[in-house]
Amino acid sequence: MTYFRSNINAMKGYTPGDQPKVKRLVKLNTNENPFPVSPKALKALQEFAGDLRRYPDPVASGVRKAAAAFVGLEEENIIAGNGSDDILTIVMRAFVGEGDKVAFPEPSYSLYPVLADIQGGSQVFIPLTEQFQLPENTLELLKGCKVFFVPNPNAPTGNLFDKAMLRKICSEFDGIVLIDEAYADFAVENCVDLIGEFDNVIVSRTLSKSFSLAGARLGFAASNKNLIDGLMKVKDSYNINMLTQVVGEASLLDLDYMYECRDKIIETRTKTADSLKALGMNVLDSQSNFLFVEPIVIGAKDYFDKLREHNIITRYFPAETTKKYVRITIGTKEEMDEFIEVTKSIIEQ
Ligand SMILES: Cc1ncc(COP(=O)(O)O)c(C=O)c1O
Repeated sequence: MTYFRSNINAMKGYTPGDQPKVKRLVKLNTNENPFPVSPKALKALQEFAGDLRRYPDPVASGVRKAAAAFVGLEEENIIAGNGSDDILTIVMRAFVGEGDKVAFPEPSYSLYPVLADIQGGSQVFIPLTEQFQLPENTLELLKGCKVFFVPNPNAPTGNLFDKAMLRKICSEFDGIVLIDEAYADFAVENCVDLIGEFDNVIVSRTLSKSFSLAGARLGFAASNKNLIDGLMKVKDSYNINMLTQVVGEASLLDLDYMYECRDKIIETRTKTADSLKALGMNVLDSQSNFLFVEPIVIGAKDYFDKLREHNIITRYFPAETTKKYVRITIGTKEEMDEFIEVTKSIIEQ
């Protein structure tokens, strides 16, 4: 006897990265930012004078305005989400019904298939090449799909997809292209300009990574007014709480601080990648706040387990396409120095 719809019974839920309570842990497993929230944003939160007895602004106008200014668009081009996962859920609910086809690269963010399953959608995996690029026949594989979810930079691989290829897909694919730019602030380019060029493009962003706000849950999508108006009909009425609206808007207005922390992360990313390469490891070029590393001199799962024994927590994805790699979030310079020292000791064992 079951009360659930058959697709809910059949599906596996999403497995979030560990959030262990242990202190003295170097936490490099869920791509959070090691730097504190913007001091200006924290001050705004401390001075919060809103009335928690009341519901929040249903469309989070302050966040929308600040996000619009950040990406160079208008308020009407933005919808806020309870994290960008909420944006992905809204998009899936808006465009994918029972039996509809929905596509994503393989490997990519493992939440997409879960959201497709909840809708009873049918999954189309676009197998990436050896270099983790989109295959030549992507457009062919996308035929008949309602939405193509494509993280750029990709997760967990960290690379950007070829922009000319993405532009061609937006131009020729007749479904929605959701470009998930969770890590775009760490990359040399983004795809916001494609929103103005094509009527089927939605770009999602998060404040969890570059803005150090994973705990506040805030993301947004940018698109043309027509698509944003439709997505507004699907979202929960009050999807962004008052406190998050305050800290999120203030963070989006303190861009200098975000860029300062971002630059430090990129510097540490380069240094860590160089150190790992010097130890004989294969490190993929990263345009994100993490490295995807093929340890070579030691098995990936073994390396992951040994790091854990030394209280360094990273992420291992046992799937066929990812099992040779360990994903390592970039922490502070000090954390990464410790990580490299421990790595040396593991290799020498
Ligand atoms: C590719 C990608 N998209 C979206 C998210 C979700 O971010 P959030 O819901 O915290 O905004 C993540 C988180 O790790 C991610 O890796």
